[in-house]
Amino acid sequence: MATEWKSGLEDVIAARSAITAIDGAAGRLYYRGYEIGELAGAVPFEAVTHLLWFGELPARSDTAFADRLAAARGLPAPVRELLERLPRTCHPLDALRTALSLAAAWDPDTRSNEPEANLAKCVRLMSLVPETVAAWQRLRTGQAPVQGQAGGSHAARFLQLLTGRAPTAEVARVMDVVLTLHADHELNASTFALRVAVATLADLHAATVAAVSTLKGPRHGGANEDVLAMLREIGDPARAEGFVASRLDAREGKSRRERADPRARIPGFGHRVYRVDDARARVLKSMAKEMADATGRGRLFEVAERLYDAMRARTSLPVNVDFFSAVVYDALDIPPDFCTSIFAVGRVAGWCGHALEQFADNRLIRPRADYVGRPPRRLAG
Ligand SMILES: CC(C)(COP(=O)(O)OP(=O)(O)OC[C@H]1O[C@@H](n2cnc3c(N)ncnc32)[C@H](O)[C@@H]1OP(=O)(O)O)[C@@H](O)C(=O)NCCC(=O)NCCS
Repeated sequence: MATEWKSGLEDVIAARSAITAIDGAAGRLYYRGYEIGELAGAVPFEAVTHLLWFGELPARSDTAFADRLAAARGLPAPVRELLERLPRTCHPLDALRTALSLAAAWDPDTRSNEPEANLAKCVRLMSLVPETVAAWQRLRTGQAPVQGQAGGSHAARFLQLLTGRAPTAEVARVMDVVLTLHADHELNASTFALRVAVATLADLHAATVAAVSTLKGPRHGGANEDVLAMLREIGDPARAEGFVASRLDAREGKSRRERADPRARIPGFGHRVYRVDDARARVLKSMAKEMADATGRGRLFEVAERLYDAMRARTSLPVNVDFFSAVVYDALDIPPDFCTSIFAVGRVAGWCGHALEQFADNRLIRPRADYVGRPPRRLAG
């Protein structure tokens, strides 16, 4: 018996999962039972990935999983050649999804959905995503990709691939926390898209391409790009309140469709599940302040803080993960249209975890539509 239609599948339970729990009323997020605020920074991103995939943290002395991830580092030559041919105007997430499609053609396990093959592909994807996005960021800004098997943590390696220099321990720690905060978020849109693709028994690369494509939109991961662009546009903390007022006031009298336009919203606010600010946003806010002060970008943080206060005064919309993460990215000298790529570097851990879970106990995901069209009729004449 079909259930009633819910717009946007709001609050519809569409999967069973043991990976991540969200308490939207309390603003809490748990990976395998551990609260995110307790994990982030205390446990390296590699161990968080192990937790998401296998259900437990590795013992602190057990480096086998981190070593396996590190052994998969390096940009495959065909991917580098592809990136070198893309027009420099190509959006970083478009470059990423194109590279993932190409990588599938070279992966020895693409056609196998056996557990060992899928695990091997997950390990390769964990490196392929940061290697690709970092190489594309360098190529499109006229720099050669960083070569070689640099050591260090996953986060440090990513920063080194981006900048060509080993990061300080503090900056590597910030990136590690950012990756953990983005690693998973239950049945968010990109993870749902991935699970639908996996459930057809399409291969892991195909499902990950679906996820990256879905992440791009401004209702989902694309919002952090919009946040940074907005904060830079405002520029002066004294203008933040007026910006919020003019954007929210302009919504009055507009149609539902016009109000739904991303340009009629304040990016970084609102969430389908949270009713209050979530724990990730709280961690990111204090990190954003520290980073902005340390790098002389305090003005952008002040713009963000004033905008946050103006939103608090005018709406009950919670701030989301994309808002203060944008300030952190600015302090790391990351341009707006590269922000969502960093999201992908963290989220690929969750995508892989959900793919492994879906493959392990699979049934085709095929809901119904509530048909509201014309009743059955005959062709005229
Ligand atoms: C996240 C988001 C897509 C959730 O959407 P949702 O649960 O479908 O909520 P709706 O789009 O139905 O919005 C409900 C109401 O709140 C308003 N609203 C939601 N987010 C808003 C925002 N950021 N700014 C202004 N108004 C907002 C909507 O316009 C709508 O009001 P209306 O009925 O008067 O038009 C939405 O809050 C949003 O677009 N936020 C901005 C983009 C963003 O930050 N995305 C990252 C999410 S992690």
